Amino acid sequence: MKTEKPRVDAHRCVFPRRFDKALPRAVKANGVWIEDDAGKRYLDAGGGALVVNVGHGREEIIRAVSDQMTDFYYLHGTLFTATVLEELAELLARHSPTGLNRFYFMSSGSEAVETAVKLARQIHLECGRPNRVRLISRWKSYHGLTLGALAASGRTYFREPFTPLLPEVTHIPPPYCLRCSYGLSFPKCGLRCAMALEETILNLGQDTVSAFIAEPVSGATLGVYPPPPGYLPLIREICQKYGLLLIFDEVMTGMGRTGRWFACQHENVLPDLMTLGKGLGSGAIPLSAVAAKPEHLEAISRGSGNFVHGGTFSHHVVAAAAAQAVVRIIEEEDLVTRADEMGRYLGERLKAKLGGSPYVLDIRGIGLMWGVELGRNKAGLEPFPRNLKIVERIREAMFQQGVLVYLSTALGGKDGDAIVFGPPFIIERPEIDLAVDTLAAVLERVVVSHTQ
Ligand SMILES: Cc1ncc(COP(=O)(O)O)c(C=O)c1O
Repeated sequence: MKTEKPRVDAHRCVFPRRFDKALPRAVKANGVWIEDDAGKRYLDAGGGALVVNVGHGREEIIRAVSDQMTDFYYLHGTLFTATVLEELAELLARHSPTGLNRFYFMSSGSEAVETAVKLARQIHLECGRPNRVRLISRWKSYHGLTLGALAASGRTYFREPFTPLLPEVTHIPPPYCLRCSYGLSFPKCGLRCAMALEETILNLGQDTVSAFIAEPVSGATLGVYPPPPGYLPLIREICQKYGLLLIFDEVMTGMGRTGRWFACQHENVLPDLMTLGKGLGSGAIPLSAVAAKPEHLEAISRGSGNFVHGGTFSHHVVAAAAAQAVVRIIEEEDLVTRADEMGRYLGERLKAKLGGSPYVLDIRGIGLMWGVELGRNKAGLEPFPRNLKIVERIREAMFQQGVLVYLSTALGGKDGDAIVFGPPFIIERPEIDLAVDTLAAVLERVVVSHTQ
């Protein structure tokens, strides 16, 4: 007798990212638009999480992936190399900061961060500096979800449940001038937050520090916050002085997002190691990378002979094919310049439309990454209490209107919210207007109905 299989609701078998919200079902995406199964269209003004740099549905990427899959789709990185990988590394080297022209490929930004931290340590070991083990990072940073990357992150509410599991990392204050940890103001402060790096190195023992990791522009945790001029050159100088490696985490800022190929190029500050992710595969495929200098790799190859690292999906050829297509699109359509131009327009529109709102404490950004920090008292920079979930409600109201944005919560550790814009670089001016107007239209309504 035929036994009936119990009916399983396929959707319920997914362990969802959110339990508190039923999600619409996406069926199609093209350009800067995503469509659900009810035919509703959403403007992707957040690029997911500032990922989809070249837009959705790009034929060039689909073709590159399909062609590569037809040839071969998997090789173990210890057994073969492939032209597609070599060409991608060469393409990236064309644009990366001087000297950073060796690329180790992984899948996620978190893995790239773990890879960079381990690589820094191994470089010191190969160069006869075994005591250099410590990592310094910043509060209010984000470097990823795996235990090592989370330990480097300074996002307190993300760390809290797992703190007992995290390896030791020392954090210093970030360059967040709006709420300076020292109560100072730029430029009179003399970049006190950068000087905290020197102080911390000396406190830890100057020969014990392996690396300092920082986002050149604070992203996910601080609701986008570019550092004041001179900050990055000063931390570069301090790392040089005390012999630790400077890791720039460009997972969010890299690949043109800030209006340069890499954010560190705005002030020509050269890191020792640089991480990439997100826009490298433009959301079409999970791909991340660590960029390193040849002299560091020579130290390893002359020394122990191998980087003690590697993963099943590292150096993935299909991901490399997708990323090559991404880089070529960016080059051919001059999308880095476009990110700069459209970013200026977005910044102007945000300031014009929202600058006068009593609930907008600050508007800041660079290229196509902008943050609107919200609160209930502009003069006193007073945030909304976290339990009101104001930023989530605003995002939901925008979602209902068909505009997607990213957000940052708990900027001040517990309270503090920002709406983040990070659309694909191909966005047009009317679409930027729509995104900004939608925020302006919902902001006051949501705030008033949840704070009175
Ligand atoms: C600067 C930075 N580093 C690392 C990560 C982690 O990347 P992933 O989520 O791909 O692991 C992120 C993600 O937001 C990021 O913004």
